[in-house]
Amino acid sequence: MVCLGNICRSPLAEGIMRQRVLEAGLNWEIDSAGTAFYHAGEPPHILSQQVAQQNGIDISKLRCRQFIPEDMLEFDRIYVMDGDNYLNVTRISGPLWDGNKVKWMLHELFPDQNKPVPDPYFGTQGDFEKVFDLLNNACLRNIDKYLQAGE
Ligand code: 4NP
Repeated sequence: MVCLGNICRSPLAEGIMRQRVLEAGLNWEIDSAGTAFYHAGEPPHILSQQVAQQNGIDISKLRCRQFIPEDMLEFDRIYVMDGDNYLNVTRISGPLWDGNKVKWMLHELFPDQNKPVPDPYFGTQGDFEKVFDLLNNACLRNIDKYLQAGE
């Protein structure tokens, strides 16, 4: 799960995906990172923590890290939240870039629309709740898609 700061969207996506994967009885390794270094080592944004908590998910122990080229080798899927994230992952990955692994987070919900998960960094609690719902629906859909494909 990749966003810009790794404090608002992607840690929430990581927490939700971990929970939904557990509920689906799958054994996937889930992680998140930001393309920027601004917040490395920090916990998620307090409003991301709160909206997760309201939905029974604890992301308070997560810590920000920056995306590194080797993530492109380590993971089978890289989900990006928006177009800037996509371009930044391309730039950071350099020769390790593998476009087949990189998906827009909302692609399965809104096919071929390149629809971003809106950045709630300067937003309200309501904006974080909307982001939670989008990410939750996307996680469930992405798991279904994986199971249907029988990969
Ligand atoms: P995120 O949100 O990419 O969802 O974690 C942001 C976090 C930090 C900044 C921007 C967006 N920032 O400019 O520091």
